[in-house]
Amino acid sequence: MSVIENSKVTVVGAGSVGSSVAYAALIRGSARHVALYDIATEKAEAEVLDLAHGTQFTGSSDIVGGSDISVIEGSHVVVITAGAKQKPGQTRIELAGVNAGILRSMMPQLLSVAPNAIYVVVTNPCDVLTVLAQEATGLPPEQIFASGTVLDTSRLRWLLARRAGVSTSSVHAYIVGEHGDTEFPLWSHATIGTVPILDWVPLDGQPKFTADELDQIAVDVRDAAYKVIQGKGATNYAIGLSSARIVEAILNDEHAVMPVSPVLHDFHGVDGVALSVPSIVSATGAVPIRETQFSVSELGLFRRSADALRDVATSLRG
Ligand code: LAC
Repeated sequence: MSVIENSKVTVVGAGSVGSSVAYAALIRGSARHVALYDIATEKAEAEVLDLAHGTQFTGSSDIVGGSDISVIEGSHVVVITAGAKQKPGQTRIELAGVNAGILRSMMPQLLSVAPNAIYVVVTNPCDVLTVLAQEATGLPPEQIFASGTVLDTSRLRWLLARRAGVSTSSVHAYIVGEHGDTEFPLWSHATIGTVPILDWVPLDGQPKFTADELDQIAVDVRDAAYKVIQGKGATNYAIGLSSARIVEAILNDEHAVMPVSPVLHDFHGVDGVALSVPSIVSATGAVPIRETQFSVSELGLFRRSADALRDVATSLRG
């Protein structure tokens, strides 16, 4: 439970992602109070009721919500999930136009009721929407950031852990860059325990990782959401859990290192673009870790990710 007394998180958007963030936050006890806000009154109220009916089993968290903007009042963290979702085969970037419009109209209202909250943008394309929202609101860059590649990093660690025969929490590896098609793993700093990934000898008699295999794992992580969306129409559980975990790092003032996506300034030559890099997440938001090292090829991939997103954001500024 959070160090902030009466800690409150509001999830904006009661679709499959928003409801799953609220559900994960409730059952993990991420905040004392969880709220769910959506302009679709019936849907929001129904999701809140369904979640509230289980609060006997969720420990000390409770849930309220609906379509009245006042439900957001008093929030320490606001998680934004509202907007259109990817259809099978559609990229996150293809949602940029419609979701930028939604975010633009929503941010002033959210800020009028929760001016001091930390804003976590989950709606896709989350990196592009973060930079547009940060510019439009003038919020300090640490106060608004995207959930970014926290989820992709979890996908990576799960795949590596299974293959290596260790617990996911013993894999130290990060996906950085865009939460999307140009993301990539920082293989130069990937270890299992302290052992560099290519040196790891699995205990179950499996061979060591090869460079080709790591390339394939990177592709599988990048394309993971496409596969889930193809099969069930959306991703929701893992993004729910990873978002709840980000909320906890904020509310507990953890100073946890997470690959979230704030707007970067003078970060390895990247400026004015939100991209995921290992960042310190605490009660004041997210601060990129400047000392993060990239190999020459990783730096090339990072700048490619930045260029791609800069172009998308430029086209939306109009
Ligand atoms: C995913 C969505 C949240 O990667 O972008 O599952």
